[in-house]
Amino acid sequence: MPDSSPFPEGFLWGASTSSYQIEGGNERSALWDWEEHMGWERSGAAAGSWERFGDDLGCLKALGANAYRFSVEWSRLETEPGRFDREALDRYVGWARLLRKEGIRPIVCFHHFSEPSWLIHERPRGWRDHGMVERFVDFVDWASEPLSAAVEDWLVFNEPNVFMVGAYGAGIFPPGRRLLLGRARELRDTVGASLADAHNRAYELLKRRQPAARVGVAQNVADLEPAGPGDEEAVERWDRFMHRDFLDRTRERLDFIGINYYTRIFVKKSWAPLLPLGVLPGYAELERELGPLFRLLGGRRGQGPRTAMGWEIAPEGLERVVLKLWRRYQKPIWITENGLAPVVGGVTREQFLRAHLAALAGAIAQGADVRAYLHWSLLDNYEWGSTKPRFGLFDRERRPADGAAAFAEFARAGSAA
Ligand code: BGC
Repeated sequence: MPDSSPFPEGFLWGASTSSYQIEGGNERSALWDWEEHMGWERSGAAAGSWERFGDDLGCLKALGANAYRFSVEWSRLETEPGRFDREALDRYVGWARLLRKEGIRPIVCFHHFSEPSWLIHERPRGWRDHGMVERFVDFVDWASEPLSAAVEDWLVFNEPNVFMVGAYGAGIFPPGRRLLLGRARELRDTVGASLADAHNRAYELLKRRQPAARVGVAQNVADLEPAGPGDEEAVERWDRFMHRDFLDRTRERLDFIGINYYTRIFVKKSWAPLLPLGVLPGYAELERELGPLFRLLGGRRGQGPRTAMGWEIAPEGLERVVLKLWRRYQKPIWITENGLAPVVGGVTREQFLRAHLAALAGAIAQGADVRAYLHWSLLDNYEWGSTKPRFGLFDRERRPADGAAAFAEFARAGSAA
C-alpha cells in the first residue's frame, strides 16, 4: 500500500454477505416459513450463491478484495437435532480454501439471524431458554473444526443486539416475541445474557483449537444524538442497552470489534406507554410503524439525504462511532458492514464510499486502530422481506453496479482521496 494511504499496512478491503440472504433455497431455516407467516416477499433463490460460488469469487477478484465475510447456514448444516451434514460443510470449506488461494481472507460468521426451524420447535422460548447456549456452541464446535483448516477469522454472531430486538423485542424475526413492550430489562437479562454467554463459550473453544485465530462480533452501531436538550440521559440509556451491553459482557473475549455502521438516529426521552426504557429511538422503521404518532411523541429524524431504506446518510457518524468504541474498549476495530441501497437520483455508492472512507481515515488519524473495511454487500440480496433494496456492488446476474469500479480503485490505491 502506498505511504500516502491513511489506512495501515495489511488493511482488509472486502465485502460481506450472509447465507440466508444470498444462497437461496434455505428451506430448513425458521425464516423460510416465517416469510409466509409475515406475508413477506419470498427469498426463493435469492442470489443463487449456494450454486454460484465461482461467480461470487469472480466478483471479489474484480474488486481486488483481500477479504470476504460470509456466514455458514446453521439450518443447512445441522439438519435435525445433533445430525450434521458433512457434505454441506465441505462446500463451505471448499469456498474458504479457494478464497485463500486467491489471497482473499475468509471471515466466517456462525449466526446471521437464521436458525434451523427444528430448533424453534424444540425450544419455543428460544434464547430466553439458556439451553440454547449449549445447542449453539455444539454447532460451532462441529462446524469450526474442518473450517479451521482454511479460516482464522471468525465472527460468532452478527448483530446480537439487532437479533435480540428483532426476534424477541419487536417480533419481526422468529420466534416473534414482543418483549420490548414493557419488558426490555427482562429481554436483556435473558436473551442478552444467553447470547453473550454463547459468544464467550464459542470464543474459548475457537481459541483453544486455534490460539492465533481472531474472534470477534459484528455489532450494529448507530451514531446516537439527543433529540433535544435534556435527552442526553435517554441517549446513554439506549446506547447501553443497544450497543454496550453485549460488548461489556464479552470484552475479555473479543480480539476485535466489528462495527456495522449505516446511519445516525436521534433519541428522545419519553414516558409514553409501551416505549422501551422510557426512550423513543428515532429509527426510520419506528417512524413508519408509529405513523403520525412518531412526531406527536417528539420523535426526530435527521435532515440529510436518505437511502432506499429511509436511513439518513451520515458519514461523519462513522468517525464518532469508531472513536467511541476504540476509546472505551481499546480493541482493533473492523468495519464489518457499511453500505446503502441507493435511491435513483440520490447519493451514489461512489459518493457514499468516499465520504465514509474519509470518516474512517479521520478516526484513524485520531488514533483509532482500524483494520478492515467490508462493504455491505457483495451482491443484491434478500433484504429480510424484500428483494428490492439494492445493496450490492454487483447485481444478481453478477453485473457490476454503480460504485464497484470506485471500490476497486480505492482498494488498489489504499485510499479514497
Ligand atoms: C444486517 C444485514 C442487512 C443489512 C442492511 C445489517 O443490519 O446484518 O443482514 O442486510 O443490515 O439492512
